[in-house]
Amino acid sequence: MRNRMIAGNWKMNKTYTEGVILAQGLAKELADGSGDVDVVVCPPAVDLKGVAEVIEQEAAPFALGAQNVYWEEKGAFTGETAPDMLTNVGVRYCIIGHSERRGYFGETDEDVNRKAKALMAHSLIPISCCGEPLEVREAGTHVDFVVDQIKKDTAGLTIEDPSAYVVAYEPIWAIGTGKTATADDAQEVCAAIRATLTEVFGATTADGIRILYGGSAKPENVAGFLDQRDVDGALVGGASLKADSFAAMVRAAM
Ligand code: 13P
Repeated sequence: MRNRMIAGNWKMNKTYTEGVILAQGLAKELADGSGDVDVVVCPPAVDLKGVAEVIEQEAAPFALGAQNVYWEEKGAFTGETAPDMLTNVGVRYCIIGHSERRGYFGETDEDVNRKAKALMAHSLIPISCCGEPLEVREAGTHVDFVVDQIKKDTAGLTIEDPSAYVVAYEPIWAIGTGKTATADDAQEVCAAIRATLTEVFGATTADGIRILYGGSAKPENVAGFLDQRDVDGALVGGASLKADSFAAMVRAAM
């Protein structure tokens, strides 16, 4: 049994002050709880502590996630954030391998794999992103492309608790474009991801790993994705920047 997950990726939006206001708004929207749905918000790094304080003060039913991490413990890595630094401010999840980090900052599958290992060594839960660009989708090789990413991203990982590792399938052509994949498109790739996870970790573990869909997900379309057998939630960009629309997506998952 997999609990659904709705995760918000704020990307490079919201100052500290704005982030605190958004978190307070979300706490209010979700004052009655989120049922069995695991809700995660991933603000920019400088907002993490402020959002953690809101979660604590309001006993808010959502957890804190970061958008990036570096795999070293500490030292001369200017601009980077270590796993320990995340746990110390109350972070529980961390997005890795987002297509924006792969595309703009050169993050490779090998980097994603090292980050996953570093996070898990610190009991942080990776939300490991994969997804194909438009030309791969148009060539019809998207399933092979994503399966290859999953194999590289999970190489040598040990997963004891399947709820402690999350995959997000985000077709790049559907991110921030208003162009969503259909629910069938999402299911096709998410099923292939689960089959690959089964090969790598065995059926019991693979059956417990949450696979999220991301890419122009919003209140109006999220139910269609959640209805799919291998889609266990959503990783939400734009629609997570307003408390009411993000809360509506949480309610749709309840
Ligand atoms: P949008 O929901 O804005 O398309 O972004 C998706 C995404 O990249 C979440 O990580």
